[in-house]
Amino acid sequence: MVMIQDVIKRKLKFLVTAGPTVEDIDPVRFLSNRSSGKMGYELARTVIRAGHCVTLVSGPTSLTSPKGCRHVAVRSARDMLKAVLKHFRQSDIIIKAAAVADYRPQKKQLKKIKKKQGSLKIHLVKNPDILKILGSKKNSSQLLVGFAAETDNIMRHARKKMIEKKLDWIAINNVSRQDIGFLSDNNELILMAKNGGTILLPKQSKTKLSAKMIKIFVSDWQQKNLAC
Ligand code: CTP
Repeated sequence: MVMIQDVIKRKLKFLVTAGPTVEDIDPVRFLSNRSSGKMGYELARTVIRAGHCVTLVSGPTSLTSPKGCRHVAVRSARDMLKAVLKHFRQSDIIIKAAAVADYRPQKKQLKKIKKKQGSLKIHLVKNPDILKILGSKKNSSQLLVGFAAETDNIMRHARKKMIEKKLDWIAINNVSRQDIGFLSDNNELILMAKNGGTILLPKQSKTKLSAKMIKIFVSDWQQKNLAC
């Protein structure tokens, strides 16, 4: 039988991913995206402040890792998948804030590609969808949270991602806005729960946002595990 005290007082293990992934083309060039990693790092910092444990799997960023977290540095989407799978089983709450590159060059050239006449074609192949893989592997006591970076038909696209990746929550970002998101210290998010219910977290610092999000996720994890 699950004891209420055991669930409420339990120090939870979080797995947070952050930053972009980087997909090398040759020794000097790569494909990546505009993620700064700030949201993921703030979430990790909040987890520690709340007295829980966190493993932060991060793509390359200029940020300093929060004190007290276990930092795992990765570069490509495939590196991130490997690191995440290593820590997934023992995690209670998994938050995938990383902006994972959907495609990578089919082959990394070992020598710098020299300029030639005419255009250059680079053949891209699909990267694994890490979150979808986690959704297919999660157990009933784990809470899986994804992010959705959208520019149009925001709610419809996010709902589709939530269902396809079997998420408990999705944090929806409107990345077409210049005043919030990727490189900013502020963000505005809509949190959507599995049942379709939404919570608007209006524009505020990523620090304040993280505090609200972690509170919501911990409380949801507790309810889920009390019901087990
Ligand atoms: N994600 C992932 N692995 C990928 C792509 C995305 O784990 N190869 C995760 C991200 O970390 C995020 C969520 O999936 O939590 C949604 O990412 P997003 O870029 O918004 O959407 P995609 O699934 O990549 O779809 P699209 O780019 O078509 O919007």
